[in-house]
Amino acid sequence: MLRSRIIGTGHFLPERILTNTELETMMDTTDEWIRQRTGIHQRHSAKDGEGSADLAYPAAVQALEAANVDPNDVDLVLMATTTPDYIFPASACVLQEKLGIERAAAFDMNAACSGFVYALATANSMIQTGMFKTILLAGAERVTNRLNWEMRDTAVLFGDGAGAVVLRAENGDHGVLTSYLDASGGENDLLIWPAGGSKQPIGSHNHDSSDCDIRMRGQDLFKRAVIEFSNAMKQALNGTDVSLDEIALVIPHQANIRIIQKSAERIGMSMDRVFVNVDQVGNTMAASIPIALDQAVRAGRIKDGDLILFAAFGAGLTWGSCLVRW
Ligand code: UT7
Repeated sequence: MLRSRIIGTGHFLPERILTNTELETMMDTTDEWIRQRTGIHQRHSAKDGEGSADLAYPAAVQALEAANVDPNDVDLVLMATTTPDYIFPASACVLQEKLGIERAAAFDMNAACSGFVYALATANSMIQTGMFKTILLAGAERVTNRLNWEMRDTAVLFGDGAGAVVLRAENGDHGVLTSYLDASGGENDLLIWPAGGSKQPIGSHNHDSSDCDIRMRGQDLFKRAVIEFSNAMKQALNGTDVSLDEIALVIPHQANIRIIQKSAERIGMSMDRVFVNVDQVGNTMAASIPIALDQAVRAGRIKDGDLILFAAFGAGLTWGSCLVRW
């Protein structure tokens, strides 16, 4: 059976680290509160003038090198992001140009923090139909330059970064085995960044200035996240003969250590089989899973034949999962 195999991974985190202690000087918060309520110790922040494609570029170069793939062999550049460089063109096109890829299809996907899982499922379907053979998929977010540093409930959560994978069409039993996607648009008020799109363009002066900031109903979101994370992890195994005990590593979206722990507990998964880096990078939205994946690969935590489970949840609301055999 034709499958999408992940043949290379990479990630990039900007050099500048923003610690909780530094945030204490910028807003009414404490290192202790942030660590206890979120598990985050620090996050990375890109330089002025850097956009998401600038962060995706080094991650993509690393992934292509690891895969031993010439950039011009890529036939689709796909980027999962909620913070594209421009309204148009897509950041995937910006990334294509940076990589010197002369001809390839290129587009962005926005499924907020579930973006990587949505994009992986989409890329996999396109490979299975025979439409593309080699896909570069990057998840990248440049978010810290748009945060309101007076809003302690959201500003402490997010960080910049990018991760990338190279997918190759391959016959066999390695690659994406299943994917599950779901959404509930009626609950978009739980997490929304209202202004800046076509409904309330920045500079139109017809929106409340608070619409320029992320609005989040944290506790409600937390409860939904735990339920949907655990459901998504189980759904990925539906219709397969794989049991949760056989999963070598779960790589969840990194929003809050307590969400990750409670979801794992709910399905009876021990935390030693769950990859966590939220303490070091914060919530990097669509970039969180590919960053974590590359860190896990480079740390030797994934070996040939391992079953890996990706699970994500985010604004939309959106959630989903993918089961992959390495
Ligand atoms: O990535 C995709 C989706 N995102 C999520 O899934 C996020 C889900 N939600 C969460 O992770 C948590 O709800 C938060 C980390 C956002 C908040 O934690 P919480 O334990 O739910 O706190 P809370 O919102 O109930 O606030 C508790 C208190 C409040 O003070 P009072 O009213 O009890 O006096 C807040 O004002 O903590 C206060 N607070 C803070 N204090 C210090 C909120 N943010 C901060 C802060 N520093 N940064």
